Amino acid sequence: MRPTRGVVLAGGSGSRLHPLTKTTNKHLLPVGDVPMVYHPIRRLVEAGIEDVLVVTGVHHVGAIVNQLGSGAEFGCRFTYKVQDRAGGIAEALGLAEDFARGGPLVVVLGDNVFDAPLAPPLRVWEESKKPAMILLKSVPDAERFGVARFDGAALVEVVEKPAVPPSPFAVTGIYFYEPPVFDIVRSLRPSARGELEISEVNTRFIREGAMAWAELPGLWSDAGTHESYQRANQLLRQGELK
Ligand code: DAU
Repeated sequence: MRPTRGVVLAGGSGSRLHPLTKTTNKHLLPVGDVPMVYHPIRRLVEAGIEDVLVVTGVHHVGAIVNQLGSGAEFGCRFTYKVQDRAGGIAEALGLAEDFARGGPLVVVLGDNVFDAPLAPPLRVWEESKKPAMILLKSVPDAERFGVARFDGAALVEVVEKPAVPPSPFAVTGIYFYEPPVFDIVRSLRPSARGELEISEVNTRFIREGAMAWAELPGLWSDAGTHESYQRANQLLRQGELK
């Protein structure tokens, strides 16, 4: 079943962008001529997603709602949820269970900026009949991300920020999930850094033979560190990303 509901995760502390994030939410910083979070929202709406849940932290929820409004400007309907503390991407996703209403979800991290339409990978996901799908991107600095480990052609796990990346394939912050994801989230324990890790969720799906994957075409950058934030802006300035 093709998802009609999407989730944008825009919580977290934004600590790696201090002092830019001292008084504002990271996702409201400009990337190109719009706030960062507009980019993932636009990709969702283009893919036919009509209902979008925005999860954000307590500190800047007012500013996020002021900026995004009802969704009319984007052609969707927003629902908002608050994550009390930055307990991890998987914890933030767990807040989407009621919103999902037992259906599939497209989940996008609010600091991921990319230009490829999501409709083609969503079709691949539908055809795969798997309960989850991740999109990979070959990058020169994979150690900054969740990284795919392969055994031959088979994807065997996702390793979060490995010192030595087992492949150049970063797991982008674009995930497709069926509702069993919420059972996995409930069973997680905090990692060494005190977060519920999305890479652990993805590894569980992989071990059950329940994960599809594809390479994300086009341009992709996160924008959560000073370096990647500058890079995302540069791509937009060069007119490479719309
Ligand atoms: O960008 C892709 C990468 O994003 C993946 O390759 C990694 O596997 C994944 O862990 C994540 O890594 P980051 O180090 O970039 O995660 P970060 O803590 O910066 O969070 C990314 C977004 O997730 C952030 O913009 C908002 C959302 N988030 C994060 C946390 C920790 C939340 O909504 N709540 C949270 O508690």
